[in-house]
Amino acid sequence: MDCENCQDKSACSSCDQGPSKQDQAISEFLARVKHKYVIMSGKGGVGKSTVAADLAVLLNQQGYHVGLLDVDLHGPSIAGILGLTGIPLNAIEDKMIPYKYSENLEVMTVQGLLAQEDSALIWRGPVKIGVIRQFLADTMWSDLDYLLIDCPPGTGDEPLTIVQTIPGVEAIIVTTPQDVALADVRKSINFCQLAQVPIKGLVENMSGFVCPNCGAVHNIFKSGGGEKLAQEKGLPFLGKIPLDAQVVDADDAGDPLANLSPKVLAALTGIAAALTK
Ligand SMILES: Nc1ncnc2c1ncn2[C@@H]1O[C@H](COP(=O)(O)OP(=O)(O)OP(=O)(O)O)[C@@H](O)[C@H]1O
Ligand SMILES: [Mg+2]
Ligand SMILES: [Zn+2]
Repeated sequence: MDCENCQDKSACSSCDQGPSKQDQAISEFLARVKHKYVIMSGKGGVGKSTVAADLAVLLNQQGYHVGLLDVDLHGPSIAGILGLTGIPLNAIEDKMIPYKYSENLEVMTVQGLLAQEDSALIWRGPVKIGVIRQFLADTMWSDLDYLLIDCPPGTGDEPLTIVQTIPGVEAIIVTTPQDVALADVRKSINFCQLAQVPIKGLVENMSGFVCPNCGAVHNIFKSGGGEKLAQEKGLPFLGKIPLDAQVVDADDAGDPLANLSPKVLAALTGIAAALTK
């Protein structure tokens, strides 16, 4: 049976058997990626997408070939942060063409499939899994040094699909110093341990506040909770990124590193360095 040229895969019983063409395409792509990182958190709004986009741009500026995959299907924000909204997704034959933030920073997001930018799609679990697998299998990715994957908060279908589909993926867990977030972040840590996903490390975002007057970091909330948790769990701590009003403006402007305070840039650079070690 020649499943390769099967005209009706959905009705064909033999097409379901053995590693599918899609499985093969995913393996072929992943073999061309040196390092794979999934960015997760227990809680929403802690800065996952910002951290993912900032690291992607930083690594790209350092000369690496980077892919950034947004699997937050309900609330994709990578396109906005990188100024890639309003561009329809293109395809050649059956392959999707990733967006290019720059020559060697390729971006894949569901954003370009949304008819209107602010229309949320309703995805059921199996559809989400299918879309994520297609992003891996049916995108014309280049050979990559780094693939960064931005997830929605929590431990639902999206991170689960990623860790089940990408052998060797490592997790970067983002948290804020507040205790509430820390309770949730433990769930992310447990998720990784259950799924046997190595944790590259914890990032404490919104840790202290870059003062617009003196440029120093003032700890308006408790800082250091993420670092303590990393210690307690025996996990690497990748760094603290302070709150900086400019981060919001840079994200909104689609130029994520624009005018960031030296403290924020230094923190991000330190995290990027940990990834390239
Ligand atoms: N260090 C920071 N300083 C100031 N603002 C920040 C910082 N990090 C993120 N933000 C802002 O906080 C908001 C939420 O960030 P972001 O969208 O990256 O979080 P998220 O964890 O991806 O959220 P979601 O769970 O909705 O996907 C954005 O407006 C972003 O610009
Ligand atoms: Mg996000
Ligand atoms: Zn000050």
